[in-house]
Amino acid sequence: MRKKVIAGNWKMHNLVSESLALVRALKPLVADVKEVEIVVCPVYTSLYAVASELGGSNIKLGAQDCFWEEKGAFTGEVSAWMLKDVGAEFVIIGHSERRQYFCETDEWVNKKVKSAIRAGLTPIVCVGEKLEEREANRTFEVVRAQLDNGLGDLSPEEAGRIIIAYEPVWAIGTGRTATPQQAQEVHAFIRGWFREKFGDSLADALRIQYGGSVKPDNARDLLSQEDIDGALVGGASLKADAFAEIVKSAL
Ligand code: 13P
Repeated sequence: MRKKVIAGNWKMHNLVSESLALVRALKPLVADVKEVEIVVCPVYTSLYAVASELGGSNIKLGAQDCFWEEKGAFTGEVSAWMLKDVGAEFVIIGHSERRQYFCETDEWVNKKVKSAIRAGLTPIVCVGEKLEEREANRTFEVVRAQLDNGLGDLSPEEAGRIIIAYEPVWAIGTGRTATPQQAQEVHAFIRGWFREKFGDSLADALRIQYGGSVKPDNARDLLSQEDIDGALVGGASLKADAFAEIVKSAL
């Protein structure tokens, strides 16, 4: 039985004071939830403050990206070890916005995933097709290439440490969600890729989140699909009550 994981990707939102207000509002709303893993991913500048606020709660901390070197002359970058140091347990890697706006490649994703694991973080690795790729019936081909190139050379130990987030690019921030059937089909494909490469027990334990316009009113249908083990939530994670409702629909 896979424990569902609901993560909030706050993207580039919230000053420190706003981040603190959000987690203060969220904590009591989900305090009694034990069967779901809950994660919030603030901007770098809010991580330390949010970590202090989350102490002793059932909400875990994640970041939105990392660099693959541990330290050095890489102006502007933050390493996985630094994230671990401020209390993060998770890190999103290869989000489509990073691929789109910051030229992130599968090769970079690969290096970042390995560094995150070495630092003791759980990478949440994002894959997903663009609208034109879906319309050209290339969804599986695109996702397979992202998996092959981003994760193809991981050891079984490394592969057993990650979470996948399937985020169809056309569903992100558009209000247009994949139907539960559309999402399930790709999730099953992703699990099949892991089964082929790493065997049954690893594939059966792998958690695959869906992301893309997840809201309180569509979360339950998505989360009830056989291969959907959680959600990576953007916009709705910025409101404590909406995010708490999504967490509870995973119960
Ligand atoms: P929205 O939920 O705002 O569509 O964002 C999804 C996403 O990109 C999460 O990483």
